[in-house]
Amino acid sequence: PASDPDLVERALKAKAALGNQVFVLGHHYQRDEVIQFADVTGDSFKLARDAANRPDAPYIVFCGVHFMAESADILTNDNQTVILPDLAAGCSMADMARIQQVEAAWEALADAGIADTTVPITYMNSSADIKAFCGRNGGAVCTSSNADVALEWAFEQGEKVFFLPDQHLGRNTAVMKMGISLDECVVYDPHKPNGGLTREQLVAAKMILWRGHCSVHGRFTPESVDDVRSRVPGVQVIVHPECRNEVVTKADLVGSTEYIIKTVEAAEPGTSWAVATELNLVQRLAKQNPDKNIVFLDKTVCYCATMNRIDLPHLVWTLENLVAGHVVNPIKVDADTERYARIALDRMLALPG
Ligand code: 13P
Ligand code: SF4
Repeated sequence: PASDPDLVERALKAKAALGNQVFVLGHHYQRDEVIQFADVTGDSFKLARDAANRPDAPYIVFCGVHFMAESADILTNDNQTVILPDLAAGCSMADMARIQQVEAAWEALADAGIADTTVPITYMNSSADIKAFCGRNGGAVCTSSNADVALEWAFEQGEKVFFLPDQHLGRNTAVMKMGISLDECVVYDPHKPNGGLTREQLVAAKMILWRGHCSVHGRFTPESVDDVRSRVPGVQVIVHPECRNEVVTKADLVGSTEYIIKTVEAAEPGTSWAVATELNLVQRLAKQNPDKNIVFLDKTVCYCATMNRIDLPHLVWTLENLVAGHVVNPIKVDADTERYARIALDRMLALPG
């Protein structure tokens, strides 16, 4: 639906009043009504890099989810305040790994005698304390844009990788890019004693995957790939690596949100694409590329509910409060967590490519 014209006008007015005081970042999964006010848009990796690009702006309004705002707070300077327009914009995947659970898992790895040779890598989609855990224990952060380079780096540092919290991104990257077999990947279930793994399984594994997944991407099925191929002649199937391995292996192309956008935009007019990622992005891509036939891979998969929490009323409320001198919903990571999480984020930002 079109944005409420009254709210659009109020957002324009508040943004104009704030001028260079505010820098608005928007993740590609955000609603159109919000993304139109973003100074920069991007996937998680691009936004992590862009967050630090306006050190002069005292307020960073992050239109995305909580873990992204935390990362922006870590990567920006102490004089800047990062704001999340709705504090309920969390991420179900990030919530699947709690620091106490991760520390208990690390102890289980130590008991099996493998913690010293295991490198923890956490997907960006995790809380700041999990990133700090990786920073403290010789590990790094990765995103879906650089998971392969991060794994290459990790296997130079150690023999095994403990990958948090998205089992699918970890498995897909290991199998597709690192020549690791499915048998060498084990899943650590935080709800079971010792993760549900024997000492022998832990010792034999190359990839120890946390049992987490994205509640949006995890819902695409291999059947939907077969179905779209039978309905749309010549269709190319392009999917995000948070999808299950059975889906990814049936697809033509796999990559992060930014990769999906670039690939589809660069494609020949008249080509057909079935896209498996968040619906706001797929709808926008279809609208912006009317010369191509762009369909959503599976119509039963919904929007990311937490990304959608950020809507125009929340953005207007945030901006108008700033105009009035009130900071609402600041996201502040404590100094100790920030210090170690920054080590893990900086290791990612230093990776080649
Ligand atoms: P990217 O932004 O790395 O493509 O990740 C997708 C995602 O699920 C963000 O929440
Ligand atoms: Fe989390 Fe998935 Fe939503 Fe991204 S799309 S914020 S991983 S639930």
